[in-house]
Amino acid sequence: MKEITITSSFSVFDSISELAQDIQNLMTQAVAIRKNAYAPYSKFRVGAALLLDNGKIVLGSNQENAAYPSGLCAERVAIFQAGSIYPEAKILKMAITAASDSNQTNTPIPPCGACRQSIAEYEIRQDNPIEIYFMGEIGTIYKSDSLKNLLPLMFDKKYL
Ligand code: THU
Repeated sequence: MKEITITSSFSVFDSISELAQDIQNLMTQAVAIRKNAYAPYSKFRVGAALLLDNGKIVLGSNQENAAYPSGLCAERVAIFQAGSIYPEAKILKMAITAASDSNQTNTPIPPCGACRQSIAEYEIRQDNPIEIYFMGEIGTIYKSDSLKNLLPLMFDKKYL
């Protein structure tokens, strides 16, 4: 028997103002689109903004459903939209922010497991890492240089 250790590293920023201008802009757009979340059940609003290599920004917010599993997270709304409209473009950066109507989120809110798996598909397809920045409503922002950091031992097409 032996053990393997897998490490992930993240950059930590204290606030949006510490970010480079392009990602500040991206996070500001994620915050704005968060207001369009349809979240009557969880009251938890998530916004996602993608910067593509063609200069376009694609946005998404979570969309819930009375049949709960039929809803979709903001991150997948955004990446599926990008894949639909700009199938040839590479996704360079992704900004995510989440806020609850009932309490203030002040720690970075990471993408859920299903979103990580979905983002992985796009990162592998485009053969280029996606920078992922995520935060709550206020405070600290985490940056991952690649989706791979967020999903060790990911399942992908090489296993098929
Ligand atoms: N949600 C997202 O939009 N992204 C995530 O990565 C985690 C969760 C949404 C789904 C649901 O509408 C609400 O947040 C509560 O789970």
